Amino acid sequence: MVLTGIQRKKLDDALRSGGIFVTCGKKNPNLMSTHWGALGSFWNRQIFVLPVRKGKRSHEILEEYKSFAVSVPTTDMRHELMLCDSMSGYTVNKFEALHLHPKRARKIPAYVLGDCGLILECKVIYTALPTDGFIEDALRADMYDGKEPHVMYFGEVVECYENK
Ligand SMILES: Cc1cc2nc3c(=O)[nH]c(=O)nc-3n(C[C@H](O)[C@H](O)[C@H](O)COP(=O)(O)O)c2cc1C
Repeated sequence: MVLTGIQRKKLDDALRSGGIFVTCGKKNPNLMSTHWGALGSFWNRQIFVLPVRKGKRSHEILEEYKSFAVSVPTTDMRHELMLCDSMSGYTVNKFEALHLHPKRARKIPAYVLGDCGLILECKVIYTALPTDGFIEDALRADMYDGKEPHVMYFGEVVECYENK
């Protein structure tokens, strides 16, 4: 599944401004916000690379379901994105707390946000830990000394569509 130029631009614009939502899980689904992540080509497939720190509820669910959805806001959702960051799925149902509307995903065991205009459904095909390989000293000190590492989830885009 390959995004159109217009869909790519919507994703880039969101990543550069307020951010995006990432949902995962089917039984007890969760939601997180981020402005880190990248769409690109690897292994002749279109992949979204998503960093998630170990210790987050989203990490735990991603390890179980090996899939996630990116919900791209196409209206101003900066308030919800900011609030989402301050909540943990271990203690709060963020969909309810933020008055958001989960909808079943089409191709992965997850929910997507009906509130967002563009959806990418991704199946994880590879994971990597930055702290396993070479890492610049300054980057390690800045990001990982005394902190959990990010797991880099390489999610193949298996479905992409506009939400009506
Ligand atoms: C702008 C922004 C970017 C973020 N990017 C990430 C990220 O790339 N990876 C990550 O694990 N958390 C990131 N966070 C933090 C998560 O959104 C936040 O900790 C979230 O509540 C995690 O929830 P969970 O424990 O329910 O998974 C970011 C937060 C903000 C505000």
